[in-house]
Amino acid sequence: MRIGEFRVSLQCLFGEGVDDVSFINYFKHSIMALHIINHPMIQHKLTIMRKKETGTREFRELLKEIGMLMGYEVTRDYPLKNVEIETPMQKMVAHELAGRKTVLVPILRAGLGMVEGMLTLDPTAKVGHIGMYRDEKTHEPVFYYYKMPEGKDRLVIITDPMLATGGSICDAVRRLKSDGYSRIRVMCLVASPEGIKRVQSEHPEVDIYTAAVDEGMNEDCYILPGLGDAGDRIFGTK
Ligand code: PRP
Ligand code: URA
Repeated sequence: MRIGEFRVSLQCLFGEGVDDVSFINYFKHSIMALHIINHPMIQHKLTIMRKKETGTREFRELLKEIGMLMGYEVTRDYPLKNVEIETPMQKMVAHELAGRKTVLVPILRAGLGMVEGMLTLDPTAKVGHIGMYRDEKTHEPVFYYYKMPEGKDRLVIITDPMLATGGSICDAVRRLKSDGYSRIRVMCLVASPEGIKRVQSEHPEVDIYTAAVDEGMNEDCYILPGLGDAGDRIFGTK
C-alpha cells in the first residue's frame, strides 16, 4: 500500500480531521508488528519481577507500573483531533484524543495484573474479560468466560503477561474476531520465540507488544528463564 492510499484508509477509519503527526505515528506503527519495549525503567522493573525472592505484593505493584509504562508505547499512534480551547491567557488550537474508547481485555487471571496500570493511563477505556486457563497436561487453553462491551469497531488490547506456546492468545484473538472485532493488539510482558511465531502465523495482522523475548520453554511449556507462573505470583496462590 502506498502512502497516499494509506492516508485515505486512515481517514476512513478516523475521519477527515486526522493530523499529520497522528498519520506518521500510525504509519510507522503499522509496518512493525512486533514491538519490543526495552525502556530502561521497564527492564529494571522486570528484572525485580523475575527474581524468585520477589514477593506477591511487590510483584503485583511492579506489574501495574509496567502496565502503565508499556501503555505509552501501545497507545503511541492513537489519533488526535484539533480542538479550540481557551487558556487563562488566550485561545489556542490544542489536541484531544479522537475516535472511540479502547477496550482492554485481560485474559484471566494473570492479564488482570496489567489492567490497572493501563487504566491509570487511559481511565476512559472499557474493560472486557476473557477467561481461560492452560490444561496442565495438554497445555491447551480451556475457555470459561467471555464478556465484552458493545462496539465492534473499537480498538481491543488483550493483556496477558505471559505469551508461552501462544495458544491462549491465539484462541482469544480467534474468539474476538468471530465476535466481529478486527482491530486487535496484544500486550504481554515476557514472550517466547515460539509463541510470537505462532501468533504471527495465525493472526499476522495483530501487533504484539512485549518487554522481553526469552530463550524458549521447558517441557511443561513454561518460559525460560521467564518469571514462573504469573497468575500464582500475582495472586499469591500455590
Ligand atoms: C498463563 C498465562 C497465559 C497462558 C500462557 O495462564 O497467563 O494466559 O498461561 O500460556 P500459552 O501461551 O502457552 O497459552 P494460566 O493458564 O496459568 O492461567 P492463570 O492466569 O489463571 O494462572
Ligand atoms: N504461564 C505462566 O504463568 N508462565 C509461563 O512461563 C508460561 C505460562
